[in-house]
Amino acid sequence: MPTIVSIASGKGGVGRSVVASNLGLLLARHGKRVVLVDLDIGGANLHILFGQLQPPKTLSDFISRKVESLNDVAQEVEWGSGLRLIPGTGQTLATANLPYAKKQRLIRHLKYLDADIVILDCPPGTSYQSLDFFLQGDAQVVVANPDPTSVIELYRFLKLAALRKVITQVLSRGQGNVKSSLLEEEFSSINDVLAAIGDDGQGTLEAATQTLQEFNPLFVLNRVTPNSKLTIAYLQQMVGKFIGGDLVMLGEVPVDESVEQSMRIFQPVVDLAPNCPASKELDLIIHRLLLFIAHQKRSPSQSRKLSQRRHSGRLECIQESCQPL
Ligand SMILES: Nc1ncnc2c1ncn2[C@@H]1O[C@H](COP(=O)(O)OP(=O)(O)OP(=O)(O)O)[C@@H](O)[C@H]1O
Ligand SMILES: [Mg+2]
Repeated sequence: MPTIVSIASGKGGVGRSVVASNLGLLLARHGKRVVLVDLDIGGANLHILFGQLQPPKTLSDFISRKVESLNDVAQEVEWGSGLRLIPGTGQTLATANLPYAKKQRLIRHLKYLDADIVILDCPPGTSYQSLDFFLQGDAQVVVANPDPTSVIELYRFLKLAALRKVITQVLSRGQGNVKSSLLEEEFSSINDVLAAIGDDGQGTLEAATQTLQEFNPLFVLNRVTPNSKLTIAYLQQMVGKFIGGDLVMLGEVPVDESVEQSMRIFQPVVDLAPNCPASKELDLIIHRLLLFIAHQKRSPSQSRKLSQRRHSGRLECIQESCQPL
C-alpha cells in the first residue's frame, strides 16, 4: 500500500501545486514510484505545471466510472520516470460538489494506486471535501505564505481539520450522533473540544483524545522573505494555544524568481534550476519528509508516544533535521 502525502492550505494561491509537483519529481529521482493526484476539484491545474495542456485522461473519467481503477488515469510525465500524474477534473457542478459516495470511492481507491508514494494536491479551504482529502495523508503537509491572511486561514484550516478528524472518529465508533455543539460551536482550544465531547462512559473521550494526539501536521512556509519571522512567531503562538504543541516545520521556501520562470515555461523548478534557493530548500524538505515517513513506518506506536510528547513540547522523532517553528 502506498504512503499518502496530502498537501493542503487554508487559502488558494499559496504554492501548493509548486510544492506538490516539485516534491513529486524529487521523490521520483530518489527512486520512489510516485503518483501525483490533482484533487483540486474545480480548480485543477497541476497538469499545466507539467506542460500537459490537454491530458487525454483525467480524474473525471474515474469519477464518472468510465474507468474502474485510478491506475488507468495515471500518466507518466515528461520530466522523470517513476513519476505519474492524475490530472484533475474539469469544472462541472457534479465534480465541484462530489456526493459522499463518490468521494468515499475516490478515497478508497487512492490506496490501490500502484506506487510507493501518492501525493495529493488538495483543494484549498475548509470544505468537508478539502478536510477529508487532507486527513487521508499518512504525512499531512500544510502550506502557507507569511502574509497575515494566509496565516489566519491556515490557523482556521488546522482547527477545523482537527475537529473533523475527531468527529469522523466519534462517528466511526458507531456512536451515531455527534453532539450538535461539535458542529456549531467555535472552539478556542483542543481541551474545549474534548470537554464538549464529554465522558459517556464508553471510551469515546479517550478515543477522541488519542485521535487528537495523532494529529501531526507538517508545515511548509512558502514565499519567505527576510521579514517573515514575525508572522511565524504569531502562527506558532496561535497553533500552540489551540492544538497544544508545535507545528513541525518541514521547510521555508524563499521567494524565488526561478519558480515564476519555471511556471511560465511549464518546467518544474527543481529541473530548471536545481541550485536556486527554492530548489535547494525543496531538496531539504524531501529529506525531512522521507525521515518522517521512515519513522512512522518503523514504529507507529512510538510515533503516538512522540506525538504525546509533542503536545507537551516538541516532536522529537525528526527533531534533528526538522525543527519546530
Ligand atoms: N517560492 C516561490 N517564489 C516565487 N513565486 C512562487 C513561489 N511559490 C509559488 N510561486 C508563485 O505563486 C503562484 C501560485 O502557485 P501555485 O499555483 O503553486 O499555488 P496554489 O496554492 O496551487 O494555487 P491554487 O489554489 O490556485 O491551486 C504561481 O504563479 C507561482 O509561480
Ligand atoms: Mg494549485
